[in-house]
Amino acid sequence: MKLVLASKNPKKLGELQEILSGLGVEVLSETEAGVDVEVEETGSTFEENALLKARAVMQASGLPSVADDSGLCVDALGGAPGVYSARYGGPDLDDAGRYRLLLENMRGQLDRRCRFVSAICCCFPNGDKIEARGECAGTLAYAPRGTEGFGYDPVFFLPEEKKTFAQLTAEEKNAISHRGRALAAFCQRLKEYQENK
Ligand code: IMP
Repeated sequence: MKLVLASKNPKKLGELQEILSGLGVEVLSETEAGVDVEVEETGSTFEENALLKARAVMQASGLPSVADDSGLCVDALGGAPGVYSARYGGPDLDDAGRYRLLLENMRGQLDRRCRFVSAICCCFPNGDKIEARGECAGTLAYAPRGTEGFGYDPVFFLPEEKKTFAQLTAEEKNAISHRGRALAAFCQRLKEYQENK
């Protein structure tokens, strides 16, 4: 089976190719599938955004397409930045600017509970759909620590590890992260889908 990844991120492509290679699934980039789709992420949930992206690429390519949407939800901020994680604070901020703004907005707040969420959606031309979600709960650190990873990793603290995501190796992070969990669940569902066809 061929599956198109609705993303311009080469890292996500490599990750999905590796996870799905055992299922005999060939993962194509948008370029390899001959499409270039810009989708506005107008959904109010991670699931809606993943569906918008996967459906648009499936319609353009005529092939089953998969997309993910993810972000960090902070309890004391009513779930913000949430679906706006990549755009938090506007277009001029970089990753460090965004997590500094988040720390600033959480100054003095003792309830530091937060979670990373990842939603994956796969749309098939016949109308079938496979969805999967993964979460990883932690607390928002008071100051950044660590140099690995990306995004909000330096301020996402795992109390049981006594480390931030940015202090874990990629392998350690994948084993427990929201994206690792969502991908594992997706892989299982895709396997069942193929078996039942
Ligand atoms: P997406 O690529 O549209 O899903 O954007 C997700 C945004 O959420 C990223 O730009 C990051 O800011 C944040 N994010 C999602 N997953 C992670 C992670 O594993 N570590 C750090 N930040 C993340």
